[in-house]
Amino acid sequence: MTKVAFIGAGNMNSAVILGLINAGFTPSDIMVTNPSPAKREALANAHGIRQSADNLEAAKFADVIVLGVKPHLITQVSQEIAQSVDVSKKCFISVAAGTTMAQIKQALNNLGSVIRVMPNTPSQLGLGVSGVYACENTSDEQKQIATKIMEAVGIVKWLDKEADIDNIIAVSGSGPAYFFLFMEAMETKAKALGFTDQEARALVQQTALGAAQMVVENDISIAQLRENVTSKGGTTQAALDTFRAGGLPELVDNAMDNAIARAKEMAKG
Ligand SMILES: NC(=O)c1ccc[n+]([C@@H]2O[C@H](COP(=O)([O-])OP(=O)(O)OC[C@H]3O[C@@H](n4cnc5c(N)ncnc54)[C@H](OP(=O)(O)O)[C@@H]3O)[C@@H](O)[C@H]2O)c1
Repeated sequence: MTKVAFIGAGNMNSAVILGLINAGFTPSDIMVTNPSPAKREALANAHGIRQSADNLEAAKFADVIVLGVKPHLITQVSQEIAQSVDVSKKCFISVAAGTTMAQIKQALNNLGSVIRVMPNTPSQLGLGVSGVYACENTSDEQKQIATKIMEAVGIVKWLDKEADIDNIIAVSGSGPAYFFLFMEAMETKAKALGFTDQEARALVQQTALGAAQMVVENDISIAQLRENVTSKGGTTQAALDTFRAGGLPELVDNAMDNAIARAKEMAKG
């Protein structure tokens, strides 16, 4: 059985651990570390997994090590582990944006294998999207394990080149916030139209949920779904014409290009 260590008991690792437990992973095969005790003890108590303050203990225990610390700590933590633990057969999974494969491999003295994963926040609900890219010496077995781990919190898209990590950041990584901004603008207008705060939120969230579910359940293009609900000369067309006149499609294109550019800048440090 594969043993998995989660370095850091923060939001992302907690979501993945919950997903693995729900997927039937053996709790005693999982260990979580964190410098402060509260979060790792809470996870251990909730799921029956092992916990420690010591990253080296966890790295020795595991075959797969999920690095769930903030990006600026990824190489530091990797270096500390590689200095004291034989990592040559270990598989490291980094969920950090902005820390490249080359930086992590260097921190590990070019030993072991590294998989970069770009998850998104709906992973906390099991509705995530993870872009996954592996270095060339990753075995098929390690790739399968990484798939199984990330499928516990959503869907997995394997990527052929590392640059696609930046592209998937612009689509699914940052994507939830684009929808939040749109929903926020609709909520503000609904309130201005006289709906209470509670009503405005309920109207907007149910509309977004319904629209997303229609996309999920209908095997037709999103463009076709839009056309189906847009009567010629009707109210929806009046609103959509206004979005187009304001340049919404071009704005989305530019916004996503800027997310990619920022991901590249962050990788330079
Ligand atoms: N949250 C998301 O939706 C999301 C999406 C995509 C990617 N990511 C990536 O996932 C990573 C974690 O993000 P997060 O949101 O889960 O952050 P977070 O909630 O702040 O979790 C980070 C955890 O790491 C712990 N930590 C700090 N130093 C450590 C060390 N030396 N060894 C072990 N643990 C240490 C922190 O402990 P203390 O709190 O006690 O300091 C904290 O619990 C980041 O690289 C982020 O870019 C997150």
